[in-house]
Amino acid sequence: MTVRIGPATGPLAGRVCVPGDKSIAHRAVLVAALAEGSTTVSGLPDGADVASTIRAVETLGARVERDGDRLTVHGGGPEFAAGRTVDVDCGNSGTTMRLLAGLLAGRPCEVRLDGDASLRARPMERVAAPLRAMGASVETRDGRPPLLVRGAPLRPLRWRTSVPSAQVKSAILLAGLRTPGVTEVEEPAATRDHTERLLHYLGARVRAGGTVVRIEGGGALQARPVSLPGDLSSAAFFLVAASIVPGSEVTLPGVGVNPTRTGVLDLLGRMAADVALLGPRDESGEPRADLRVRGARLQGIGIGAPEVPRAIDELPVLAMAAACAEGETSLAGATELRVKESDRLAALEQLTSLGGEIEIRADGFRIRGSGGALLEGGRVQARDDHRIAMAFAVLGLRTRSGVEIDGSAAAAVSFPGFFAALRALGGAVRP
Ligand code: S3P
Repeated sequence: MTVRIGPATGPLAGRVCVPGDKSIAHRAVLVAALAEGSTTVSGLPDGADVASTIRAVETLGARVERDGDRLTVHGGGPEFAAGRTVDVDCGNSGTTMRLLAGLLAGRPCEVRLDGDASLRARPMERVAAPLRAMGASVETRDGRPPLLVRGAPLRPLRWRTSVPSAQVKSAILLAGLRTPGVTEVEEPAATRDHTERLLHYLGARVRAGGTVVRIEGGGALQARPVSLPGDLSSAAFFLVAASIVPGSEVTLPGVGVNPTRTGVLDLLGRMAADVALLGPRDESGEPRADLRVRGARLQGIGIGAPEVPRAIDELPVLAMAAACAEGETSLAGATELRVKESDRLAALEQLTSLGGEIEIRADGFRIRGSGGALLEGGRVQARDDHRIAMAFAVLGLRTRSGVEIDGSAAAAVSFPGFFAALRALGGAVRP
């Protein structure tokens, strides 16, 4: 499917309710399957990635009922997945695969985790190695999927991850959940802490401080309702869209503002964007707020390695903000972008074909912004990557001829209603 966006015919105005947080949704569904009793997850997003996780827990024996954006998971407790020999299709979702590997590692089961072509290209040794060190058998195909996990009684582990990855940290914590003793993960930089917060909320003995997290295994999880905030990673497309279209004002109610995820707000703030956080509140252990964004004259900035983990998924759309800003924006220390749903640094090079100026480096980029002038526009490939499809769509608003996105259907991995939401704000979208 090809969608053409832009140019914007006027300011963007209105309210966008973004889907529930994908990252927390995966965790809520997986952990609910392990809990004793029934857990209702509300605000569930309807993207394909979370659907992969729901199908996975069903394949492994959990019973789930869906009613609109509410999902009730009847957890299996210690018996979840026990005795199963099954194949699980994780689709496009790295979070499903890596977290499931951890969750299954200590259970008596034999599970083959596989996925689509994009997922099959992604590194899995980073999660297989610590799980093996705990005593599970985890086979990969040259370090990539499929993964064959044969669960076994585990021993606790102290592990230092070589790359900051919330998925790897979470896999180890989920493996440690039922392992007697204390399992500890230390990261080179703090990553999103949704797993820690959720496990704590459900009664697990987990302690976090800076870059070290410890879990004391063996306790049971108590089912409690989980309400998901809106996904800041989805909101980021509208934060940038409204920032770059002069005169815009858009509100995004109930968006998650967990400080381990809000790098995009800090970076947009440094670029002189006008974003306000209104009515901050906490629910189910996660902070949320209403976001209000207005058009602004953005400035280029330097983004260094320490800022990358807290903004990792938003860097593609921040590149679009940079392309419209005044002056230069540089990014360093972001080689992880090369092993996401696509090689996102390589995908961003397509900016050149739209009239933008970008130089791709091994670990980042340098972008010379247009200073608010319209770019030419043209055609790009989504490369089976939802965030690349949506990032270029946003840029289309500030081009003379619009941007055509081949493979725009990829957006449905996290945000099936994205193009309709952009159209509703006045951003010109044609199928
Ligand atoms: C995620 C962690 C990040 C992020 C991904 C979701 C998570 O990946 O890019 O979209 O839900 O834990 P890494 O753990 O590979 O950094």
